[in-house]
Amino acid sequence: MGIAYGGDYNPEQWPRETWAEDMALMREAGVNRVSVGIFSWAKFEPEEGRFEFEWFDEVLDLLADNGIEACLATPTASPPPWFAASYPEALPVDTEGRRLTHGSRQAFDPSSDVYLAKALAITEQVARRYADHPAVGMWHIHNEYGCHNARSYSEAATAKFRTWLRDRYGDLDGLNAAWGTAFWSQAYSSWEQVFVPLPTPTIANPAHVLDFKRFSSHQLTRLYDAEATVVRRYSDKPMTTNFMTGSHPEIDLWEFAEHVDFVSTDHYLERPFEHVGLAFAADYARSLGGGKPWVLMEHSTSAVNWQGRNRAKAPRELIRNSMSHLARGADAIMFFQWRASRQGAEKWHSGMVPHAGTDSKIWREVRELGARLGDLAELEGSTVTAEAAILWDYQNLWAQEHEAKPTADLDAMRVRDTYYAALWRAGITADVAHPEGDLSGYRLVVVPAVYLMSRDAAENLERFVRGGGTVLVSPYSGIADETDAVYLGGYPGALTDLVGVRSDEFYPLIDDTVALASGGTGSIWTETAATRGAEVRDTYLDGTPAWTVNRYGEGRAHYLTTFVDDATLDRVVAAAASDAGVEPTAEAPAGVEVVRRSHVDGRSWLVCVNHLDEDVKVKTAAEAIDVPAGEVVVHAERA
Ligand code: GAL
Repeated sequence: MGIAYGGDYNPEQWPRETWAEDMALMREAGVNRVSVGIFSWAKFEPEEGRFEFEWFDEVLDLLADNGIEACLATPTASPPPWFAASYPEALPVDTEGRRLTHGSRQAFDPSSDVYLAKALAITEQVARRYADHPAVGMWHIHNEYGCHNARSYSEAATAKFRTWLRDRYGDLDGLNAAWGTAFWSQAYSSWEQVFVPLPTPTIANPAHVLDFKRFSSHQLTRLYDAEATVVRRYSDKPMTTNFMTGSHPEIDLWEFAEHVDFVSTDHYLERPFEHVGLAFAADYARSLGGGKPWVLMEHSTSAVNWQGRNRAKAPRELIRNSMSHLARGADAIMFFQWRASRQGAEKWHSGMVPHAGTDSKIWREVRELGARLGDLAELEGSTVTAEAAILWDYQNLWAQEHEAKPTADLDAMRVRDTYYAALWRAGITADVAHPEGDLSGYRLVVVPAVYLMSRDAAENLERFVRGGGTVLVSPYSGIADETDAVYLGGYPGALTDLVGVRSDEFYPLIDDTVALASGGTGSIWTETAATRGAEVRDTYLDGTPAWTVNRYGEGRAHYLTTFVDDATLDRVVAAAASDAGVEPTAEAPAGVEVVRRSHVDGRSWLVCVNHLDEDVKVKTAAEAIDVPAGEVVVHAERA
């Protein structure tokens, strides 16, 4: 089909007369795939056990007649009101122990067996009825697992948490050791004493909280598997669920990605990183699938409705955003949603057909995008190669979310995004890698505050550098093991040998910054670092090392002891990239994104996205490409 194009289609929100117009407009816009059925449970099963599918037969028939593929969802993300009324015990429970009510969506407890039974029953109905429908090309299991109810603190969750812990630790001795319960008299003498982490008088045990987050993530993966197993009995079409690679980090997507047939993700711009955050989310989606093309299941044509102040996209921004996803390996560009709703919680969320109708900026750009994607069919299946990677691991983030740490100013996601942004400004295409993942294909690896780091991960990095790789390590990396126990002997713990620097104490900054000899500024964090073989590249004004480089085997380890300003970080990234022999994809002004997609047969394209208000030239060794202000040029490279 070339590059797929479309969005979530919710015809049940509209009178039947609209459906024919929808088909005509979809054809006009070049739409060739829509996601359907996502929130249709109450229409499919208005009362428990009574099903009404005729209206949906008509929808799928219309799509088939118009040559539009259906990405058919199981509707299990939003159980109908009868579910809450009949099974109140299956509703989610919040951190304060309050049971939530129906009236929104995702009103179910991921640990509830009743929910699972009802979800599998409707899944079976949908799969059996539609597996062989000609419109159905793929399956969309559920919707955004964990978007609103990732962690439920119910009795059902407590029971399942205990089982999960027994499987993990074998016995209470194992649990007590892993959680360090010798501290504050917390040793457990029976499994019945173990609960999900409900409110406590003061600071909770961090290992307990971390394990609950691991457990909760696992529960959601388990729900996916259960539905996928049912669908698989009826259909051999590919299945996925829409991840959120740029937000909602409550699910370990490294684990989840092993369960889907292909990766898809949803992305919405969020301040302050906006299109740079988009690039990260796209690179991460690609990396989760091992580099294979992926599906952008949702993004927005313009404003969302959930950010307080919802910025409408500027003219051409829709095109730039879509093309950035394409540049980074997406083979499908889809939106939430086809028609902007008139009613309901999301009536102020943009759609492909806005409230204003077709005489609108949005519709004109939607049509233009469809036409352009139609012309880019040859890119389908092409891939992106990255020589750099940035490490990212949920368990590290979850550990750092704990309230008691050296400074509340250190935010793991913020550090990751800041370091990724420096790679983005340098024009370096990066993958996202798990700390224990295979790094052998990279030359440069960035380690942004990977505080929780297993011995295996530390050895992985050592092996990478010994073999000639370059790492750039931020403060607060390599500090604790998987049980959140601190490595002894000085910081950065497991990475001390690799970086050739040892600090005996952290000095988080309280309300000031630290000046650097280079003229730069450090913030949030400082350390009393002493070198052990590393070369010093920059210092605080008192001579304490701020940036060091250590030769280790055939490679080099750069280490920073403070969070430096962007200009300084750009210099550090440039030096590390130069050590690694990593070049930008093309020569382009900062603010212009250039990514190469290529086929194994040698055909390749440079996707150039100009985020600036001025016309620019993008130069490669062979050619110069003109990219007008705010525009996107997809340039076929000469073989
Ligand atoms: C996603 C969700 C969609 C819609 C969208 C709004 O989280 O999957 O159903 O709510 O966000 O931005």
